[in-house]
Amino acid sequence: MLQTKDILDEKDKRMRKKSLDVIFPLTLDDKKIIQDSIEYLTNSQIEEKALQYDLRPGMGLAAVQLGVLKRYFVVVHEYEKGKFNTYVLINPKIISYSAEKIYVEDGEGCLSVNRDILGIVPRYARVTIEAQDMNGQKIVVRGREELAIAFQHEMDHLDGILFTDKIDKKNPYKDKDSMRPI
Ligand code: NI
Repeated sequence: MLQTKDILDEKDKRMRKKSLDVIFPLTLDDKKIIQDSIEYLTNSQIEEKALQYDLRPGMGLAAVQLGVLKRYFVVVHEYEKGKFNTYVLINPKIISYSAEKIYVEDGEGCLSVNRDILGIVPRYARVTIEAQDMNGQKIVVRGREELAIAFQHEMDHLDGILFTDKIDKKNPYKDKDSMRPI
C-alpha cells in the first residue's frame, strides 16, 4: 500500500524533470503505480480511511511524484459526497480550453508541496484533453471547475512544473479580478 512518505517532495530533483512519452503496453510496474495511486487518492479523500492510514488528502498524482518519469497521471474526483470518478490519463494533451480562467480561492495544494503557499494559480475553467487509456486506446476527457484544475495541475507535473511556479512572486494576487475564485 502506498504511503504518504513514498511521494517525492518538491525538493527532489526528479520533480523538475520532463517526463517521457509512455510506450505501450504498460509495464507491470506502471499498472501497479496506477492501482496504488487510485487506492491512495480514494482513501485519502475518505476521512475515516485517511486517519486510519495517515494519508494526506489529495485528488491527483503524477507518475513522477512516485519517481517514475513517464507521462501519465491519476485523478480521483469526488463528484458527490462519497462518490468518486477515477481518471487515468496517459500521454495527455490539452486540445481545447475555455477563455474563462479560475483559481482555487483557498490556494492550490500538492502532495509534493509540504508548506503553506499563498497566491493565485491561474487555470482554465474548462479543458478538453486527448489521451490514451491503460490499453493504449485514444480517449477524450472533459473537465470543468476543480476537475479541470486537477488535470492542468497534473499535466504540469509531467513537464517538471509545480503550481508554486505559477504564482507571481512580487504580487501573489495579480490579476485577481480577471478570474473567478472557486
Ligand atoms: Ni501536485
